[in-house]
Amino acid sequence: MIDEPSLSHVVLSVRKRIHEIPEVAMVLGSGMQGAVDLLQDATTWETHTIAGFPVPTAAGHPGRLTMGLIDGCRVIALQGRVHLYEGYTIREVVFPIRLVYALGARRLIVTNAAGGIRKDLVPGRFMLLTDHIRAESVSLYGACPPYYDQAWLNRVREAARKAGLMLASGVYVWTSGPSYETPAQINCFERMGGDAVGMSTVPEILQARALGMRVIAVSLITNAAAGRGSAKLTHQDVLLRGAKAQSTLGRLIKIMVNTATSQAL
Ligand code: HPA
Repeated sequence: MIDEPSLSHVVLSVRKRIHEIPEVAMVLGSGMQGAVDLLQDATTWETHTIAGFPVPTAAGHPGRLTMGLIDGCRVIALQGRVHLYEGYTIREVVFPIRLVYALGARRLIVTNAAGGIRKDLVPGRFMLLTDHIRAESVSLYGACPPYYDQAWLNRVREAARKAGLMLASGVYVWTSGPSYETPAQINCFERMGGDAVGMSTVPEILQARALGMRVIAVSLITNAAAGRGSAKLTHQDVLLRGAKAQSTLGRLIKIMVNTATSQAL
């Protein structure tokens, strides 16, 4: 675990290598790594070269930090989040968020892969998070709702509608994994008001909000949640579905970045 003095030390050493100040930070989830190609004039750092940076062990999580421009907006993308199920503590899981904040980012876009609980959330659909439910008792700090920036969400919805891009909204249920849920759990989550389920994002959101960052998050539905579809759930399918959704994800990310700071629309 990295302590506070070491974090400042890490930030200083990263600042020596990263001079620009990012406006927006973006976390890329399982199977969504290709979105990093949207960044122009990009510079990439392998995160294992950054002291204290947790190293991902899950497939589809390469462990890179890339800074570049999307439509003139300076974005820092985190490829390779770590999860609680890899044995990291929650404070280690959120270390990258503290780092991008320290580098100057004040807006955060989080992406993830999730299983669809609600009927219309079929594989391939995107769902903006309006809220979340922590199915785990793990928590962090005392951040208070609302977690997801309402005005920014509205601007994204409006821009997506104009672009003819189908976008659902719903509540994300966070489980710590790594095992998928049971059908009984999914039934329970549905009654609790959950629309999709996944194993990430919530720690990062809690950290970012505790720092006062403005946040939005989007799930790519990669599968029907346990007991809701006929297919067996595998991590490979999750990655494949991400690859198939690449071009829509790219359009959506541009919309999320373009609406990050604009007051118009
Ligand atoms: N459950 C939990 N996490 C997930 C799922 C799921 O069905 N799909 C992708 N990530």
